[in-house]
Amino acid sequence: MAHVGLVGIGVMGREFALNLAENGHTVSLLDRDIEKSREVVTAGSALDGELIACADESTFVNGMAAPRSILALVPSGGPLDAVIESLTPLLDEGDLIADLGNSYYKETERRVLACEAAGLQFLGMGISGGAEGARHGPSIMAGGSPDSWARIKGPLRDAAAKFEGEPCCDWFGPGGAGHFIKMLHNGIEYADMQMIAEAYGIMRDGWGMDAPAIGDVFASWMEGPLNSYLVEIAAEVARASDPETNKPMLDMILDRAGQKGTGRWSVIEALHLGAPASMMQAAVEARNISADLEGRRDSALLFGAAPEGKFVAQGKDQDSGQEAGLRQLESAMIAAKVCAYTQGFEVLRRASEAFDWSLDLAAIARVWRAGCIIRSVLLDDISDAFEEDATRKLSHAPKFTDLLRNNVDGLKTVVAQSVGGGLETPALYAALSYHNASRTQHSTANMIQGLRDRFGAHRFERVDAHGELVNGPWHER
Ligand code: 6PG
Repeated sequence: MAHVGLVGIGVMGREFALNLAENGHTVSLLDRDIEKSREVVTAGSALDGELIACADESTFVNGMAAPRSILALVPSGGPLDAVIESLTPLLDEGDLIADLGNSYYKETERRVLACEAAGLQFLGMGISGGAEGARHGPSIMAGGSPDSWARIKGPLRDAAAKFEGEPCCDWFGPGGAGHFIKMLHNGIEYADMQMIAEAYGIMRDGWGMDAPAIGDVFASWMEGPLNSYLVEIAAEVARASDPETNKPMLDMILDRAGQKGTGRWSVIEALHLGAPASMMQAAVEARNISADLEGRRDSALLFGAAPEGKFVAQGKDQDSGQEAGLRQLESAMIAAKVCAYTQGFEVLRRASEAFDWSLDLAAIARVWRAGCIIRSVLLDDISDAFEEDATRKLSHAPKFTDLLRNNVDGLKTVVAQSVGGGLETPALYAALSYHNASRTQHSTANMIQGLRDRFGAHRFERVDAHGELVNGPWHER
């Protein structure tokens, strides 16, 4: 009898089934196409656990020891609901379905309630790390009832990535908490990727470097605080050449970015919660603008193409100027990364308060230390910072205050230089703008309040009487 069932043998399902089997678990497999399950059985024949291909739902359900635990790795939305609908009549009271897709957290909350009403348990889990992670250890962020989690956590912890032996796999709160955290992981992933793309643009268009040379710079960043999976693969992507043309592979990739929705959801949720998420927003908008190839071409014809020219080298000669420019760029990335993480964790804090989830920010940083797409050396320090004081904003923790303070001049220089040359760096700009706004003691919101009161009698607080709402003299007439 299988310990767990797995529905949906796509790329992720296949790799995760093999991972579970490698860790000694017996897994029943179900897919609309049984050939896919059979192929996994063949691929996993030498592993410790057993993989069983099931032809239909009833063979799948009856072949599992009760109470059953079923992992769904199917596309979120309609396909997931269809799987739940087809399995529900065959399952027994107390059986558990866990959704490992990128589901919208409110949908997860709906499914938790619907499954509970049908006598079933439902867990919403984010799983990060792509196909490689699914096979060799993903990062897993679970939400739902703690009892359901206790039932399934064994095999998942076995299969998860390990950071110094500790599984990157945890339960964080009820209902949609797990999927909310995964959504925010992706929001940070969007910001990280946009910053990397901007750094690439600065090197390509500002400094006139070719892709392999840019790859070398990314590789050199692996020696410092930017050491992360995304920077590592940025080096790999930039250094690769196209087997067909022998040109740099990057030069052959169309500059139109796709997106499935988790970045956009992160921004929308942050807006609902009133938490600044300008770097994620910049990243989503950059992808949106990139999608409009024709519009960009037409605007370039009307207004002239951006960027408007290479950077002028500072220093004695071109080489030393470029060298200094690249050092400033690394600094800019470090400062911006602190801002991106600060914003991301502040969104999580707001969600925790608004939804009464009691999220453990240190534990979230801990499961992101290995396996997931945003894993980076900084995440261990982030978990320490929140361990020390979870009420403090990340950029106010000494290690991160220092990183930001010591690198923000690079960010200022890079943003100023880019803006001046028409070189688009929206995420880096958003980081600097957030940093400046966050430390502005006398902001201009008094003008906003004055205008709101003038046209709509919305009233404002006086500097000498906080908490008391009054109208301005323009209403005395
Ligand atoms: C991960 C990734 C994964 C997926 C994203 C990509 O954590 O493993 O985030 O979930 O690659 O959905 O999202 P976009 O297609 O929106 O870039």
